[in-house]
Amino acid sequence: MRGRRASTAAAGALLMLAAGSSHSVSDLRAELLALPQTTALGGATTRVVATDKAFSFPVANLRRGHQRSFFFGNRLFNTNWTIAPASVASFDGLGPTYNRVSCSGCHTRDGRGRPPASGEGPMDSMLVRLSVPDGGGGTLLHPAYGDQLNERAIPGVPAEGRVRVTYEEVEGRYADGTPYSLRRPRYELVDLAFGPLGAGTMVSPRVAPAIIGLGLLEAVPVETLEALADPDDHDGDGISGRINPIPNGVGTTRPGRFGWKANVASLHEQNSGAALGDIGLTTPELPRENCPPVQEACAAAPTGGSPEISAEFLHKLTLYTRLLAVPAQRDSEQRRVRRGGRLFREAGCSACHMPTLRTGPDAPLPELADQTFHPFTDLLLHDMGEELADGRPDHGADGREWRTPPLWGIGLLERVNGHSFLLHDGRARDLAEAILWHGGEGAAARDVFRTMSAEDRTALLTFLSSL
Ligand code: HEC
Ligand code: HEC
Repeated sequence: MRGRRASTAAAGALLMLAAGSSHSVSDLRAELLALPQTTALGGATTRVVATDKAFSFPVANLRRGHQRSFFFGNRLFNTNWTIAPASVASFDGLGPTYNRVSCSGCHTRDGRGRPPASGEGPMDSMLVRLSVPDGGGGTLLHPAYGDQLNERAIPGVPAEGRVRVTYEEVEGRYADGTPYSLRRPRYELVDLAFGPLGAGTMVSPRVAPAIIGLGLLEAVPVETLEALADPDDHDGDGISGRINPIPNGVGTTRPGRFGWKANVASLHEQNSGAALGDIGLTTPELPRENCPPVQEACAAAPTGGSPEISAEFLHKLTLYTRLLAVPAQRDSEQRRVRRGGRLFREAGCSACHMPTLRTGPDAPLPELADQTFHPFTDLLLHDMGEELADGRPDHGADGREWRTPPLWGIGLLERVNGHSFLLHDGRARDLAEAILWHGGEGAAARDVFRTMSAEDRTALLTFLSSL
C-alpha cells in the first residue's frame, strides 16, 4: 500500500516539474523521494573510504583556504584539556566538573559513543541530561546538578555523581517464529554529592552521535523542514513530524537540528554548549563556569581565563564539525543491497529516514552549497512510543519525541568504533534491535519488519550496513 502511494506521488512530482508549478507541502516530499539514491551519500562532499578512520576525513571538495582551519579544528577536537593554571595556557581550563577531557573522548574517531560495558560505569562516551518541572508545564535546570550530570571533577572539587545502568531482557518473536531479545535499560543515579535528585527530576541518557555530514544538515533550508513537517498528520499516514522550535533569545525561533531531540539549532551553539557542559570550558557565549550555587568548591576553583576557549578556537571547531566528510555507500550493486533498499521504502522507513535532502545556494560554507545528499533523516521529531520515551521535554520536544537520526555511516560503526550499539542510549545491540524498539509513529514500519521473511529482513539489514 505504501509502495503504491509513494509511486503515485513520485509520478505527481514529475508532472509538476514538467508543468513548472510551485511546490506545496507534500510535493516537495514527493519530489525528494523521487530523486535517485546514489552512493555519494554526502553529495560532492563524499569520501570513498571504509577504514577505521572513515569518519575523520575532510569533505572531498574542501577548499584550499579551509585546510589549515580544518586541521587546527581537528587538533582542538582531539586536545586533552588540562587543569588551570597550566604551562600551555591556551589549552587549560578543564572543569571544575566535567565528563571528559576532550571532544574525541566521547566522539571517538569522530564516531559514536556507547553505554559502559559494566553497569557500574563510568560513562565514558555518553551523558545524562537532567531537569526539573517548573510548575507551569515547562522545565528548569536541576538546582543542584545543572542540566547534565558531571561524573568527573578536578582535584579538590567533588564530582556530581555516577550513573548505574542495569538491563532487563525482554523476549519477543518475529512473525516467522524466530525469537529475539531486547534489553530494556534502567538508570540509577548514585554517589550523588549534593543530595538526592528529588521527586520529579527528569533524566535523559544520551550517547555521543557520530559527527559526519553535520554541515550539510545545518545547511538544509528552513523551508524544506517546514515543507516536510506534518505536525497534524494531514496526509493521514500516522506519522506527524514536528520541528523543534529553539528560541533565539530575541522572541523568534529557529528549527532545532542537532542532538537526539533536535534540541540545538546550530553547530556553533552545539559546540559552545559541549565545551562548557562536557569539558567545563567557558566560551564567549557561555562565560560562567557550570557551578550551581550549592557547589561551592566548584565556584572557588581557579579558572583558565575568561573565556577558556576563545572565539577563534570555537570558530575553527565549528568549521571542523561542518566539514567532516560522509563516507560513500558500499556494495550498492549487490542484489541483496538493492532489494533491501526497496524494502526500506516499502516498509515506510523513508517516511522519517528521508533518503534525500538538498542544500540551497546560501550554505555557511561553499563546499556545502547546492548539494543533493542522502542522510536518511528528516531532522524532525517523532513520537517513538512509551518504551523509548525519556519523559524529559527538551524545548518543544516532548518526553516521547526523538529526532530521526541520520543513517549514513551506520554500516561503518563497528569498524570505526568497535561496537554496534544504537539508539539514543545505546540500548540496541545491533541494527535489528534498533528497528524492533521503534514504537509510536514508528510502530507500523517496525511491524512490517517483524513480519518480513528472514530473507527480506536480511536484505533490509544488508542495505543498512551498506550505508
Ligand atoms: C561526555 C561526552 C561528550 C563530550 C566530551 C562531547 N560530546 Fe558532543 N555530544 C555528546 C552527546 C551525548 C551528544 C548528543 C546531545 C544531545 O542529544 O543533547 C553530542 C552531540 C554533539 C554534536 C551534534 C551531533 C548531532 O548529530 O546532532 C556535535 C556537533 C558535538 N556533540 C560536538 C562536540 C564537541 C565540539 C565537543 C568538544 C568541545 C564535544 N561534542 C564533546 C557527547 C559528548
Ligand atoms: C516515525 C519515524 C520513523 C520511522 C517510520 C522509522 N524510524 Fe528509524 N528511527 C526514528 C527515530 C526517531 C529514531 C531514534 C530513536 C531513539 O534513538 O530512541 C530511529 C532510529 C533508527 C535506527 C538507529 C539509528 C541510530 O543512530 O542509533 C535505525 C537503524 C533505524 N531507525 C532504522 C529504521 C528502519 C529500517 C525503519 C523501517 C523499518 C525505520 N527506522 C522507521 C524514526 C523512524
